[in-house]
Amino acid sequence: MPVAAMEMAKMALNLSVMVMLIAAAESATVYTNHTVGGPDGWFFNATTNTSATNYTAWAVSETFNLGDFLVFNTNSNQSVVQTYNESLFQSCNTDDATDDDYFLYNGGVTNFSQALTISFPLTIQGPQYYFSDAGDDGVQCSKGMAFAISVNRGLGLPPSLNQPPPPPYIEPPPDPDSAQSPPVTVNGSSDSPGNDALAFGTNVRVVLCALLFAVGALISC
Ligand SMILES: *[C@@H]1O[C@H](CO)[C@@H](O)[C@H](O)[C@H]1NC(C)=O
Ligand SMILES: *[C@@H]1O[C@H](CO)[C@@H](O)[C@H](O)[C@H]1NC(C)=O
Ligand SMILES: *[C@@H]1O[C@H](CO)[C@@H](O)[C@H](O)[C@H]1NC(C)=O
Ligand SMILES: *[C@@H]1O[C@H](CO)[C@@H](O)[C@H](O)[C@H]1NC(C)=O
Ligand SMILES: *[C@@H]1O[C@H](CO)[C@@H](O)[C@H](O)[C@H]1NC(C)=O
Ligand SMILES: *[C@@H]1O[C@H](CO)[C@@H](O)[C@H](O)[C@H]1NC(C)=O
Ligand SMILES: *[C@@H]1O[C@H](CO)[C@@H](O)[C@H](O)[C@H]1NC(C)=O
Ligand SMILES: *[C@@H]1O[C@H](CO)[C@@H](O)[C@H](O)[C@H]1NC(C)=O
Repeated sequence: MPVAAMEMAKMALNLSVMVMLIAAAESATVYTNHTVGGPDGWFFNATTNTSATNYTAWAVSETFNLGDFLVFNTNSNQSVVQTYNESLFQSCNTDDATDDDYFLYNGGVTNFSQALTISFPLTIQGPQYYFSDAGDDGVQCSKGMAFAISVNRGLGLPPSLNQPPPPPYIEPPPDPDSAQSPPVTVNGSSDSPGNDALAFGTNVRVVLCALLFAVGALISC
């Protein structure tokens, strides 16, 4: 019957809209690992005096969100310096900077040529800067081992990065009687601001399940 066929077509359309909504909600729940320089990694060639790739061009091609990771595939001939101070970044030089004005990631390695992977999450929104302060007079940085990014809010931090550190462990007082007492369950708190999109995705899924159920019931009639 044409009317029924039209109803089915409408239903199918609604379904495909739902599926698209879900796809959108799902893609919004993804955090990205950004490998700096892509396949070229984070390298400076001291013979040719050039960086392995154009890190500025690489950085502008990426979108950075809270909770994403930066991954530097490199070796100990380069360093990774992070700062929020743009003038320090432009100076290519940490010699005169105060310790709290930048952070040096070196994996604790002090020898040349040791392979390193330096990976950390982006936890602060807004502009921030990266460069290598290795080489004489900041030569690596001034020859291209430097880039700026701006971190968007995205989904906000995932719960794994958004929790206060646990309280310090305190040795329980020795008490032979308490050995028999039942374990105490601590009820975890739930909502953190970063979870809105996730909760939205879950709601959409619930709606879709209900819809699929209804369609199934119709068809079986
Ligand atoms: C991103 O990097 C983190 C930390 O190294 C790792 O735990 C996670 O599995 C990586 N995610 C993907 C999609 O590769
Ligand atoms: C640096 O570049 C030179 C010339 O292209 C090349 O021969 C050499 O292997 C490169 N060194 C490194 C460490 O990549
Ligand atoms: C690399 O470039 C710097 C700055 O232009 C220069 O001082 C240095 O001598 C160069 N090094 C080599 C190995 O060409
Ligand atoms: C690197 O890329 C940036 C942005 O695309 C561009 O402005 C700059 O001229 C490039 N640098 C070099 C040395 O090619
Ligand atoms: C930023 O860095 C420059 C160069 O090291 C320094 O002179 C300046 O005081 C710093 N600014 C802030 C706000 O720390
Ligand atoms: C540096 O290299 C030397 C020789 O290869 C090695 O004995 C030493 O353990 C290395 N030091 C570190 C901190 O890895
Ligand atoms: C690292 O730097 C040292 C000292 O300049 C050099 O001898 C070595 O060839 C470099 N290694 C790599 C992998 O670039
Ligand atoms: C944890 O939650 C359960 C059920 O909601 C409740 O009965 C219990 O009293 C709570 N425990 C604590 C320590 O808050």
